[in-house]
Amino acid sequence: MVKVSVRLSSSYRLLHPRPVVLITCCSKDGKNNIIAVAWSTPLSFNPPLVGISIAPKRYSYKLIKETKEFVVNVPSAKLAKETLICGKFSGRNVEKFKMANLTPLQAKKVKPPLIKECVAHLECKVVSSLDVGDHVFFVGKVLNAEVEEELFNREESKYRLSYFKPLIQLGGEEFTTTKEETFILKV
Ligand SMILES: Cc1cc2nc3c(=O)[nH]c(=O)nc-3n(C[C@H](O)[C@H](O)[C@H](O)COP(=O)(O)O)c2cc1C
Repeated sequence: MVKVSVRLSSSYRLLHPRPVVLITCCSKDGKNNIIAVAWSTPLSFNPPLVGISIAPKRYSYKLIKETKEFVVNVPSAKLAKETLICGKFSGRNVEKFKMANLTPLQAKKVKPPLIKECVAHLECKVVSSLDVGDHVFFVGKVLNAEVEEELFNREESKYRLSYFKPLIQLGGEEFTTTKEETFILKV
C-alpha cells in the first residue's frame, strides 16, 4: 500500500475523527459561555484528570484562565447543529446558550453551568496548564460526573451504543457517528 505525505500543519487530521464535547465556562461575574472542542482527552484514573486544548484567542480561554473551572458536556449526534454554533461564534459577540437554544443547569461542584441537552457532564477544576504551541492545554480534576441513566451501563462503565450516538468530527464541518455494532477482542 502506497503511503503519501501529509502537510505537517494538517497532520493532526490523521488523529481524527474525534468525539466533540461542549465545554462550558463562565466569567467571575457569572457570564456563561460554551465552546466546541475536539481536542479533549482522559489523562488519569486516580486522581480523575481530563485535558482540553484551547487556543488563547478564544474567549473561553480567558474565562477558564480567570475562574479555573470548566464543565465537559457530551453532546449526542442530535446536537450537531447546536455544537457547530458553539464552534463558529464567539462568546465575545453572542450569547451562545440563547443562540443555540441550549439550557443552562446549575452544576453541583463548580460555577459554570451544565448543558441540559447533553447526555453527560464532567465538572472540572483546573489543576495545571501547559503552553503547547498555539494552544494551551488545561488539565482538569473531575469533581463530579453524571450521565443519562439509560445511555450508560454503570456496571461495565460503558455507553450503550444502541441508545447513545456520539457526535464525532471528521474535520471542519463534517461529522459522523457510530453504528451499533462493537467487537470484543480477547488476546
Ligand atoms: C467541531 C469543532 C471542534 C473544535 N475544537 C476546538 C478545540 O479543540 N480547541 C479550540 O481551541 N477550538 C476548537 N474549535 C473552535 C472553537 O470552538 C471556536 O473558535 C469557538 O467559536 C470559540 O468560541 P469562544 O470565542 O466563545 O471561546 C472547534 C470548533 C468546532 C466546530
